[in-house]
Amino acid sequence: MKTLIDKLEKEHILSKDEYKTLITGYDSGLSDYLFQKARDIREKAYGKKVYTRGLIEFTNFCKNDCLYCGIRRSNRNSERYRLSKDDIMLCCKEGYELGFRTFVLQGGEDPFYTDELMTDIISSVKSTYPDCALTLSIGEKEHKSYQAYFDAGADRYLLRHETADPGHYSMLHPSELSWQNRINCLYDLKAIGYQVGCGFMVGSPYQTADDLAKELLFLKRLDPQMVGIGPFIAHHDTPFANEKSGTLELTLFMLGLVRLTLPDVLLPSTTALGTIHPLGREKGILAGANVVMPNLSPVSVRKKYMLYDNKICTGDEAAECRYCLQKRMESIGYQVVTDRGDHKPLFNH
Ligand code: 5AD
Ligand code: FES
Repeated sequence: MKTLIDKLEKEHILSKDEYKTLITGYDSGLSDYLFQKARDIREKAYGKKVYTRGLIEFTNFCKNDCLYCGIRRSNRNSERYRLSKDDIMLCCKEGYELGFRTFVLQGGEDPFYTDELMTDIISSVKSTYPDCALTLSIGEKEHKSYQAYFDAGADRYLLRHETADPGHYSMLHPSELSWQNRINCLYDLKAIGYQVGCGFMVGSPYQTADDLAKELLFLKRLDPQMVGIGPFIAHHDTPFANEKSGTLELTLFMLGLVRLTLPDVLLPSTTALGTIHPLGREKGILAGANVVMPNLSPVSVRKKYMLYDNKICTGDEAAECRYCLQKRMESIGYQVVTDRGDHKPLFNH
């Protein structure tokens, strides 16, 4: 098994069967071996820097009905909210003063925010904070909408593909959502010129080792600048209420494999990871992640953006999250940095 990790370290790709062997057969000794190599390679590209992105969850209305998601449209118990443009600008102001130079506008797929409204928000943020990067995470849109947001100044786009297997996708989503459309969106975003982030959940219902091996091959094909991975965590008001959550160990192992597969990728240690273990985000960094995304949303709405149960950071002010993460990163020998943290293509792959 160690020889497979050595091979991955050298070649940055394995066959599906090789990935599968690692995913089904790993233990804590092999994980430590992987994590050491993941840290070494990440430090070649990014040193001990951890990039921060200020996350603004600006709407929890969603027209979709993903089976795993707490803000799916059928969840009548979700108390819905929208932030106005002024609310969003205030979040950015607070974030800017705290040192953030990337803002992530994330929301459900909410038709209230027309292309006109979105481009207005984007151009206001970018003209007020020209030294900041703006990331959008608002789901599947038409090519022309993505183009309009890009022309208004958006730099990056996060759209997790959720699973690389179309059959598995259809077990996690209602039939009106299509895997192919989601993948087409990712290629549209890339072609337009965005820095693109895809991603998936670890331990989602019906996921197999074969699916996880396919994830790594998919990542290699798409070659995104960012990859968001977190454990699946059940939400009590969804059809998956009684499903088991993804484990800390497997999520960390996947983070390590992603780091060796895409050495210079921007890889967040996610809130979901911090939710399943008190030191989850620290462990994520030590497994090869290099980004954290503290929450900048107003405290009044935090508890309403509940994608899964027991989400952390829902009672804390932006400044508390910012300094909490800074302390956590320092405790493991890493430094939070406040530059834009653009993707650095230092390797040929
Ligand atoms: N558990 C973990 N992650 C979830 N997401 C949505 N619901 C859950 C859940 N129950 C993730 C999805 C989505 C991102 C915004 O949050 O991957 O793309
Ligand atoms: Fe909102 Fe899936 S329920 S994107």
